[in-house]
Amino acid sequence: MESEFFRIKRLPSYVFAEVNAMKEHARSVGEDVIDLGMGNPDQPTPQHIVDKLVEVARNPRTHRYSMSRGISSLRNALVDYYKRRFNVDLDPEKECIVTLGSKEGFANLASSITSPGDIFLIPNPSYPIHQYSFILAGGSIQYVPILPNDDFLITLKRIVKYSISKPIALVINYPSNPTALIATLDFYEQVVDFCCFHGIYILSDLAYAEIYFDIDPPPSILQIKNARNISIEFTSMSKTYNMPGWRIGFAAGNSTLIKALARIKSYLDYGAFTPIQVAASIALTESQNCVEEIRNLYKNRRDILIDGLAVAGWKIPKPSATMFAWAPIPSSFSHLGSLEFSKLLLSEAKVVVTPGIGFGEHGDGHVRISLVENQHRIRQAIRNIKHFLNSYDIILKNVENRNCKNRD
Ligand SMILES: Cc1ncc(COP(=O)(O)O)c(C=O)c1O
Repeated sequence: MESEFFRIKRLPSYVFAEVNAMKEHARSVGEDVIDLGMGNPDQPTPQHIVDKLVEVARNPRTHRYSMSRGISSLRNALVDYYKRRFNVDLDPEKECIVTLGSKEGFANLASSITSPGDIFLIPNPSYPIHQYSFILAGGSIQYVPILPNDDFLITLKRIVKYSISKPIALVINYPSNPTALIATLDFYEQVVDFCCFHGIYILSDLAYAEIYFDIDPPPSILQIKNARNISIEFTSMSKTYNMPGWRIGFAAGNSTLIKALARIKSYLDYGAFTPIQVAASIALTESQNCVEEIRNLYKNRRDILIDGLAVAGWKIPKPSATMFAWAPIPSSFSHLGSLEFSKLLLSEAKVVVTPGIGFGEHGDGHVRISLVENQHRIRQAIRNIKHFLNSYDIILKNVENRNCKNRD
């Protein structure tokens, strides 16, 4: 019997799994582990959204199959959001679709547009689904390295120039997970011009549209004239409204891509549970004070983390968006790489972070720290890390001894 299936073989073992297994083990033996790993919001969904869900769920008529493309009130709420926030006009019928979280939309779009061997341009490091959706769909990946002093556009132009065949699409994600980099309209304009010229679709992931601090709100690529000729943009309720478990997100923009996604989805799902969609639409249309509160919470945690770690001797750039700090591995440990460093941080400081290698080879000099524990826990993490950094010579000596023993 075949047990090595083609698509499963295309998925490498999950780097995050190693750190997760260590975390589970540490907790099972009673250790107090502070988990700043996964970007899983820890706060509850705002009460008025939960109340609406409960109210609508009481109506048995909402228990039937819903609409795969999303109910019209939710698509209209998305249209209002794009108008209010970005001054972008969308057609709710042809340019909007509701997805079961933006990740599902992204993966199903990939499967709807990929022919075997097609080339897709994926930033590296980037959120894993950006590449694995295409790998699963039989596509080929061409990475666009995101390096500290590199100009993304120059790199992109070089890669396209030397590509064996014309790439089908470029993925971009600003504000970025994991790097927290943000984009300007000027940048988007240049990317759109370039991709229009070469006939390359742009898939923009705007999951962190509303999680920003001390800066103007991040723009949408759809604000650029002509963008919708080639671009689709994914947004999500998960981070903006603390709704990660609800699995609700959107795609908006290019009608050909939306149509392709809608067609695949019409074969695969009947849409999110109607009460979830109704609650999501009131989240988008009613008071946005809760979004402000969520932003402030992350900003406060960010300041505590970055300022505290700086005092502890670990200087990390202050992110101006997302719920992550993208932390260069301290120089004394940089030779270890991000996976070994993360394991060491867990075993010695009892703090879980995500190894940058999990986001691609160009992420290996960093770890990602999520702002998903409360400020007391973050302070505790800082104290533990400070102690860890202060005893780095002993820790590294122990690592060396362990490695020697393993070699013998
Ligand atoms: C960049 C990015 N895109 C998409 C997602 C997934 O969002 P959703 O919950 O809407 O599937 C995440 C979640 O962490 C993310 O970081």
